[in-house]
Amino acid sequence: MNKSRKLSIYERNQLLKYSLKETDLLTKGDLPVEYLTGFVEFRNLELKINQNVLIPRVETEELLDLMIEFAKSSSEEISYLELGTGSGAISLAFLDFLLKEKNKALRVKQILISDLSTKALSVAQDNLIRLFPQSKNFSFKCDFLVSDLLKNVPKQKFNLVVANLPYIPTKTIASLEASVKDYEPTLALDGGEDGFTLIAQLLEQIILGDFLSLNGKIFLEVHETHTLDFIAKNYPKIMYNFLVEELPDQFDRHRFLILQKR
Ligand SMILES: C[S@@+](CC[C@H](N)C(=O)[O-])C[C@H]1O[C@@H](n2cnc3c(N)ncnc32)[C@H](O)[C@@H]1O
Repeated sequence: MNKSRKLSIYERNQLLKYSLKETDLLTKGDLPVEYLTGFVEFRNLELKINQNVLIPRVETEELLDLMIEFAKSSSEEISYLELGTGSGAISLAFLDFLLKEKNKALRVKQILISDLSTKALSVAQDNLIRLFPQSKNFSFKCDFLVSDLLKNVPKQKFNLVVANLPYIPTKTIASLEASVKDYEPTLALDGGEDGFTLIAQLLEQIILGDFLSLNGKIFLEVHETHTLDFIAKNYPKIMYNFLVEELPDQFDRHRFLILQKR
């Protein structure tokens, strides 16, 4: 029993909701309550999760809002790609928006959802089937793909690319809360030496493979240290190839980047 652990109101409510007892969690060290219940709420979806995927964070809902704003303003058919989907949170909430959207001008060509982890991708796939039983009859293509960044993604142009890739600098992982570093997958956290390694690789692959359409945008969640100044200093090629906009999250921490072709 973890006697020093004090359960929050949120944790108590989650335990009640799934008919679990407080001791069920208190006997599990620092295990996040979502891994015990097996569920997490993201926007208005109840996603099934396990320890092969990151627990989606509330900040990431803001990334979704930015994408939705862009999709609503775009006159082009949407060709969508997500890298590092984990539980599928971003893509499935975006699909939910698309299916409920009444604006008939908003057309969708394809949705491609990927992750390096086969186990994570199977969580995302199960969530699609559970939340959208009609998915076999979508009027657009909706596919899942195991891929190391863009390695297995067929050559084509997308106009909405989103990625919440691992972005924690390797050396700071040890100082994260135990509930994160001891229970969430390292593959979902470790972003390499400066935390930007995978993100920079992705942007390099997009440039080299010409994966972004002229009016397309890339939406990224990043670490608070990944500012425009940081990128200009360490990855000048990115600034040379893209117009980069930076935005804070609701806690006023630098958190999002939106890129488009120069
Ligand atoms: C921070 S988690 C984000 C999960 C989810 N998109 C979310 O917002 O909750 C990062 C995800 O990227 C995946 N990932 C790690 N390295 C990758 C790579 N080289 N290529 C593709 N995905 C990768 C991990 O498996 C993990 O699911």
